[in-house]
Amino acid sequence: MPAESFVARLNEQIGHEFAAHQQYVAIAVHYDAETLPQLARFFYRQALEERDHAMMMVQYLIDADAEVVIPGVSAPQPSFGDIVAPVALALDQERRVTEQINGLAAVAREAGDYTSEQFMQWFIKEQVEEVATMSDLLRVVERSKDDPMEIENFMAREFAHEEDSDPTAPHAAGT
Ligand SMILES: [Fe+2]
Ligand SMILES: [Fe+2]
Repeated sequence: MPAESFVARLNEQIGHEFAAHQQYVAIAVHYDAETLPQLARFFYRQALEERDHAMMMVQYLIDADAEVVIPGVSAPQPSFGDIVAPVALALDQERRVTEQINGLAAVAREAGDYTSEQFMQWFIKEQVEEVATMSDLLRVVERSKDDPMEIENFMAREFAHEEDSDPTAPHAAGT
């Protein structure tokens, strides 16, 4: 059995991952309504990744015979002042999640629960990538904020062939 302190925190994290999912859907819908389909597509896809993160955590708890409580989430921010604001919010969110994930690894280690600490390693690596992607994107949208088509072209070029499958990823519940 994983440490109780870790199980409690991981259940909270499932809520944070679903909240991130909802926020990214809200951002995608915002860009879709602004007829920025490439930005929309990127965030729809990011949203699915967040859902996967939540479901990987669900699967871990199920496999470990620990209690899973699917939480409600607070409403995401629905509207934004300009093309940059959603990406800035997304970067903040990824930085916050990085702290939460590192915190989870620390809780597991303090409890001597090395299996759970090991489980968090994939998420630590994933957060490094997500923060890097979002800070790159923020730089691009800031630089080209007066020329949305330049941003759309960048998105089409850079993210059109994103490979989603990662053989080292933990198994997500229901897949
Ligand atoms: Fe995530
Ligand atoms: Fe993320």
